[in-house]
Amino acid sequence: MIKKELKIAFTEYESDQELTEVEQDLLKKAREASDLAYAPYSNFYVGAALLLENGVIVSGNNQENVAYPSGLCAERVAIYAAGAQYPNVAIKTIAITCKSKQFQVNEPLSPCGACRQAMSEYEMRHNQVIRVILAGETGKIRVMDSIADLLPFMFKAEELKKG
Ligand code: THU
Repeated sequence: MIKKELKIAFTEYESDQELTEVEQDLLKKAREASDLAYAPYSNFYVGAALLLENGVIVSGNNQENVAYPSGLCAERVAIYAAGAQYPNVAIKTIAITCKSKQFQVNEPLSPCGACRQAMSEYEMRHNQVIRVILAGETGKIRVMDSIADLLPFMFKAEELKKG
C-alpha cells in the first residue's frame, strides 16, 4: 500500500486591481455577463468570459429552466458558444464570477464538477492550458494556471481506448 499526494497550485489576489489590465477587463466582462443571467429559481447569477487565442471574448451566463436539470451553468454556456463559433481557436483565459440576490458573495466561485470536466476537454482538445480567474462579488480573487488544478483526475479520452 502506498499513500500518494497530489499537489495543485493557485494564486490568490486581494482584489481585481492586482490583476493585469487584460484580466481585469475579462473579469469585468464576466461580471457584466452575470447581470444578464436567467436565474429566476436560484437567484444566483453566474457569468463567464473567455479570452480566445485570437483576441475575441466570448461570454455566457447561467440559463435556468422550470424543469431544473434542463438549465445550464454559465461556464458551459460560454464554452459551448466558443466551441460553436470558433471551433479551431484555443481559450487562453476564463474569468468566472457570481452574485446572489439573497446575500453577498465574498468568496471566489468554485465551478461545479461538470463545468470543470467541460473546461478540461477544451484544454485537451487544443493541447493548451487555460488560465482560470475565479471571483465573487467582493473578496479574494483565485487564479489557476490550468483547469488541471481544478480537476486533477479528469476523465480523459484515453480512458475510452484502454483495454
Ligand atoms: N451555476 C453556474 O452557472 N456555474 C457553476 O459553476 C455553479 C452553479 C449555476 C447553476 C444554477 O443556475 C445556479 O448557479 C445555482 O446552482
